[in-house]
Amino acid sequence: MNVVNTTHRAATALSFTSEVERNTAHLYEKVKKVIPAVEWPVFAPMIDRINRLKAEKNAVILGHNYMTPEIFHCVADITGDSLALARSAAKTEADIIVMAGVHFMAETAKIMNPSKKVLIPNSGAGCTLAEAITAEDVRKLKAQYPGVPVVTYVNTSADVKAEADICCTSANAAQIVEGLGTPRVIMLPDEYLALNTAKQVKCEIITWKGRCMVHEQFSPADIRGLRETNPGVVVLAHPECSPEVVAECDFTGSTAGMIDYVAKNKPPKVVLITECSMSDNVAADFPELDFVKPCNLCPFMKRIELSNILHALETETIEVHVDPAIAVRARVSVERMITGWKYGT
Ligand code: 13P
Ligand code: SF4
Repeated sequence: MNVVNTTHRAATALSFTSEVERNTAHLYEKVKKVIPAVEWPVFAPMIDRINRLKAEKNAVILGHNYMTPEIFHCVADITGDSLALARSAAKTEADIIVMAGVHFMAETAKIMNPSKKVLIPNSGAGCTLAEAITAEDVRKLKAQYPGVPVVTYVNTSADVKAEADICCTSANAAQIVEGLGTPRVIMLPDEYLALNTAKQVKCEIITWKGRCMVHEQFSPADIRGLRETNPGVVVLAHPECSPEVVAECDFTGSTAGMIDYVAKNKPPKVVLITECSMSDNVAADFPELDFVKPCNLCPFMKRIELSNILHALETETIEVHVDPAIAVRARVSVERMITGWKYGT
């Protein structure tokens, strides 16, 4: 009687049994500084079930650095910034990819793996940058600036990537723009990333008015206030922040760049000017460091939860589809970013 078995399995698997407690004890060790003991009996049964399903179905979970610690440290197989996730998506041997991140990341994984099943646990996990520009906008810009190469941030739809010459992420923006070797570059859609990149390169950058709703909220006065109330604090910021905020900080880098900075320099007191969960994830790895946490939540990233990851694996939904004709063109832009490319070659 399959129905009875399935119901029984769900009921037992989602209880905090002594078996679940044993299976997940090593994971709780990793996150105990940032997840209260009282919450673990709620998370642990889902974590145990997700990890079993991954093995059964040959599935992999790619987790962005903004995932909450119970996802980031306990169920994600590969974690990282947008660049690392795009690279991993291009290499994985798994049959199913679950993106614990936002929709453009899942689309990128699908573009790189057209024959694989790519799942997003919540279809509402969007991004204000990806929504800021359409393929038609890019076509108009190309008509306005003929012969000027187009670099699109990975935080864009597949349609927009298909119109680009090459993609970039916050980890490689200056290198990609400079590597084109042209006097002008169109860089879309994040105005702040483009302005911050313009300070690092020799060419002129034409940009767009897109903003990340999380990073645009930080102000230079916030950073000055933090330094006043936390003497000696080291301030790291994401380049989606305004150039005025970046000018007040000690280091700017992608989410992975910030993590590397903390790992190498071990600043005793540090603040990450970015999405909230990053600090919790890094604090779990460096319990000896003091993390000041004035952060802003990304409501899109926070739509991904253990419960919908579990549902995605159990039901193999919500599947991400990209029109094959678009995917072929978008893939060229992502591959050029990953493997390197010079304009016109
Ligand atoms: P990175 O992880 O590439 O730095 O990007 C940050 C971001 O905002 C992704 O949504
Ligand atoms: Fe988009 Fe900003 Fe959220 Fe990243 S943090 S997904 S850029 S809205």
